[in-house]
Amino acid sequence: MLEADSQRLRLSSGAFVLRGFALPYVSQLLPAISVIEGISPFRHMVTPGGATMSVALTNCGTLGWTTDRRGYQYVSVDPATGDRWPAMPPVFAQLANEAATMAGFDDFEPDACLVNRYRPGARLSLHQDKNERDYEAPVVSVSLGMNATFLFGGHERSNPAAKVLLYHGDVMVWGGADRLRYHGIRPLKDEPHMLLGSERINFTFRKAG
Ligand code: SIN
Ligand code: FE2
Repeated sequence: MLEADSQRLRLSSGAFVLRGFALPYVSQLLPAISVIEGISPFRHMVTPGGATMSVALTNCGTLGWTTDRRGYQYVSVDPATGDRWPAMPPVFAQLANEAATMAGFDDFEPDACLVNRYRPGARLSLHQDKNERDYEAPVVSVSLGMNATFLFGGHERSNPAAKVLLYHGDVMVWGGADRLRYHGIRPLKDEPHMLLGSERINFTFRKAG
C-alpha cells in the first residue's frame, strides 16, 4: 500500500504525505499565526460529551470549526470574541492549494482553516472530518513544530490505523475515497523543536460551506 517518490508518500489512493512541503513557507506562516492568535486566541473547547479538549484551537477564514455541549459546527463568528474569525492569510490559501494540486486535487479553495495547538500530552482521538457541507474537496493538514504520530485509520473506528510520523513542515492531504477515514494524533511527547519549543501547530484546511 505504500508507494513513495522523492517528496510524496502515498498512503492510499487519495491520501498523501508531502514531506517538507511547507518548509519554504515557514517564515511567512509563523508571523501570520501570531496575528491570528492576537485576534482570536487559542482556547480549549468542550466536546458535546462534556470533555475539555487537550488541543487548544483557533480558526481563520470565512468559517471556523467549533465545538460545545450542543455539538460541532462551523460558524462565521468567533464565540469567544463575538467578531468574525481573522481572514485567511493569502499565503495559507496558496500553500493549501499547491499541496492539494500535488496530491491530484485541483482548484482547492478552502474557506475554513482550523489552527490546532498541541503541547506535550495533548492528543486527538480517532474521528472523521464530517461537519463540512460536502466531501468533494480534500482535507489539507500542515504540521509545524514538534513531531507527532498521526493515526490514519479506515472507515470504521475499529479498523486498524497506520502510524505516520509527521515532522515540522510536512503536509498531509486526504480526499476522494479516503476523505472520510478516521484519523487522530497520539499523545505528544515533549521533544522540543528548534523554532517552536514544546509546541506543535497544525492547520487543517477544508471547504466547509
Ligand atoms: C485534525 O484532524 O483536525 C488535526 C490533525 C493533526 O493535528 O494533524
Ligand atoms: Fe480531523
